[in-house]
Amino acid sequence: MSFLSVSHFHLDQIENLFRNAVFFKTKEVKPKLENKIISLLFFEPSTRTRMSFEVAAMRLGAKVNLLSGKQGTSLEKEETPEDTVRNVAAMKPDLLVIRCNDDLNLQQISQEIKVPILNAGWGTQGHPTQALLDVLTIKENGKYLPQEKILFVGDVKHSRVVSSHIELSKMLGYEIAFCGPQEMMPGNSKVKHFESLKDGLSWATCIYALRMQLERHAQKFSLEEIIQNYQLNKESLSVWKKEGLILHPGPVNYGIELSTDVMKDSRNVILNQVEHGVLIRMALIYHYLKENL
Ligand code: NCD
Repeated sequence: MSFLSVSHFHLDQIENLFRNAVFFKTKEVKPKLENKIISLLFFEPSTRTRMSFEVAAMRLGAKVNLLSGKQGTSLEKEETPEDTVRNVAAMKPDLLVIRCNDDLNLQQISQEIKVPILNAGWGTQGHPTQALLDVLTIKENGKYLPQEKILFVGDVKHSRVVSSHIELSKMLGYEIAFCGPQEMMPGNSKVKHFESLKDGLSWATCIYALRMQLERHAQKFSLEEIIQNYQLNKESLSVWKKEGLILHPGPVNYGIELSTDVMKDSRNVILNQVEHGVLIRMALIYHYLKENL
């Protein structure tokens, strides 16, 4: 079965992923998957997710091959992403890791092919490994999830990371809320919304900044106003005295959602998230490929 959303796993499987990720952090791993091939199909840009899937696979001894963007592939000759997936699956890799936009129906294609698909960011639908690595980071920084309140600040509407946290928070018992202007909020969401950053910060134990997904915006909006009202910087954070965590999935657009002084804030765990990204992806690959070791 493919891993397209966090709810494709039971709670005990999720807990097991965290346990294995922590095991991989503390123990030296003997690469054992040398006969395995993982094909990465990245139809949308990526740095962290793609490279950490590659590093994770390599740490476990598996071999990876990669399609990254259109250039040099038959996508330039108008082959569709669907057909690309079918063709690469016909080469019988052991796993497919796919990043794509909403036009590719991963659910449908996963039922058509025999190779399991791991979702590495699917349009606005979900980014399950990102949500898992965020939670691992929160746990590894000594927090007890059922007591955590995560405030997502910025472009919530287009964030697949948020979609996955909506699911994962229900499974693991942490609270989430959104902060940003109305036009950046998803329609008919039941999640608590703070229009004012100050109010949101007084509620939050963790702050999760989001990038403005300019590539997904159809309507024009005032970036200056958003920076003015929602940027996390020394001044706006001066009211947040808590020993919480500041997270971001990357890539950070410094000067928009964060100012560079947040880099020096001791509560910033952004690079720690990246570290945990490799461990979660190792745990996930291991979950899928271990049977035949
Ligand atoms: C995010 C994504 O692609 O969904 N980044 C990531 O995978 N680390 C967030 C973003 O692009 O803003």
